Amino acid sequence: MSTADTLAREVARRRTFAIISHPDAGKSTMTEALALHARMISEAGAIHGKAGRKSTVSDWMEMEKARGISVSSTALQFNYEGNVINLVDTPGHSDFSEDTYRVLTAVDAAVMLIDAAKGLEPQTLKLFQVCRHRGIPVITVINKWDRPGRTPLELIDEIGERIGLTPTPLFFPVGIAGDFRGVLDRRTGDYIRFTRTAGGATIAPEEFLSAEAAADREGEEWTTAVEESALLSEMGQDHDQEMFLAGETSPMIFASAMLNFGVRQLLETLVELAPPPAGRESVDKAEREVTDPFSAVVFKVQAGMDSSHRDRLAYMRIVSGEFERGMVVTHAQTGKPFATKYAQAVFGRERSTVDTAYPGDVVGLVNAMALAPGDTLYTETKVQFPPIPSFAPEHFAMLRAQSAGKYKQFRKAMDQLDSEGVVQVLRNDIRGDAAPVLAAVGPMQFEVVTARMMTEFGVETSLEGLGYSLARRTDADSVDELNRQRGVEVFTRSDGALLALISDKWRLQYIVKEHPTLTLEPLVATAD
Ligand code: G4P
Repeated sequence: MSTADTLAREVARRRTFAIISHPDAGKSTMTEALALHARMISEAGAIHGKAGRKSTVSDWMEMEKARGISVSSTALQFNYEGNVINLVDTPGHSDFSEDTYRVLTAVDAAVMLIDAAKGLEPQTLKLFQVCRHRGIPVITVINKWDRPGRTPLELIDEIGERIGLTPTPLFFPVGIAGDFRGVLDRRTGDYIRFTRTAGGATIAPEEFLSAEAAADREGEEWTTAVEESALLSEMGQDHDQEMFLAGETSPMIFASAMLNFGVRQLLETLVELAPPPAGRESVDKAEREVTDPFSAVVFKVQAGMDSSHRDRLAYMRIVSGEFERGMVVTHAQTGKPFATKYAQAVFGRERSTVDTAYPGDVVGLVNAMALAPGDTLYTETKVQFPPIPSFAPEHFAMLRAQSAGKYKQFRKAMDQLDSEGVVQVLRNDIRGDAAPVLAAVGPMQFEVVTARMMTEFGVETSLEGLGYSLARRTDADSVDELNRQRGVEVFTRSDGALLALISDKWRLQYIVKEHPTLTLEPLVATAD
């Protein structure tokens, strides 16, 4: 087989996705269940490090340990029936950061995991907005169906009404939430009956029954499922691949990650319906096809993961071509060569060397000091992909070095953390350089800055919260008038963008009303 054929085949069998959810909806449990199903691990409970569970999650930084959470995003790869599934992990805690968003620039599909009792929750909504903004197709999973919750139709309505995404269940639950018996396969009309296993620690056996046999077995529960499914069909809520890919509809699955019910259905759906890796448009509007020479985008940089050897890991998502460890690639931003001798797959604390990788795969490059999120790497024909949009910050604080004698290190550290994309750094003439303003999507980004200032640069810093809660993009013509307003201050971000920080939305509304000609544009990818 020629190299081009191998490449095309490898691309076709890959699926790269992330799970978006609100904390506690069951993302870790579902990740374990998926991996278990793919038989990557022999026993559920071995992946994510929540208290009391066996932990293999990165022990990056003390604060992470103290909180029992993982700040870092990692990528899990497993094989499923001849396919290669890449699950790019998003941090699961409520305090998320820009990294959470950046992960979504590296995936081709998202699984929106919803707790059956809670329905749509704030973080799910925010992340969904990013998916919509980026045109990422979304598969919806209603989790915890083994526990009392809402009715299927209520949940379907809520999603349709609140976010304008039309759920098209592929499998309809038989039995109400709390009495999960199995699912009606809406496309075949057959019944898939689940059986519990002790503690849900192994794959749940499935029994396949015809509609008739299902009616005998489950009686009214089956009839209800069939009727409600027919109702959805009448309303046009059947799967339509084009509408799914266009982000208008969302195939829906009912599951219990804990009992391993619906997990196979999710894997099958990913393989069958989620799109394989596709080419990407460059800054010059040319398409880099997946079969073109190697190219990749750095979507996340992580430093100081391991206290014994401080390294810096850049995660790249491969866009085109075959990656071979050791090959020398070009860093598009600087034009400099970059050796890839230390390419690794990172999942939790486990690192393994990657020798070959294909479009859709995520590879960690060790000691990637020059790389920043959004950077492009390539071989042969030059390509540069558009930068990752920076997301609308909602938290603002002023940072200072405790001792004036450390100013030089402080500046250096600030530039370094800024280039890594740890936080957005804002400056203006009034405040000067000694007290830059940090802007973050989640306040934990501030903690990362102060911790790294101390451990890596030996600079003790203090943070002072600022009374701003939102940022708008503005222009040079609006700066003077904005600076005259109460509760407003204009800054220049390190990428040159002018940002007006505003105390609250009422102040913003007032200014817009009083000064309609001022430029105050929302930043991308927010739920506001
Ligand atoms: P997260 O990563 O999204 O934050 O959620 P996680 O998987 O940690 O799950 C949060 C809680 O919900 C856990 O309970 C987990 O066991 C439970 N859970 C997840 N999926 C299901 C499900 O399908 N059914 C039921 N009934 N529960 C589910 P916990 O008590 O916080 O932790 P643990 O002691 O069970 O580990």
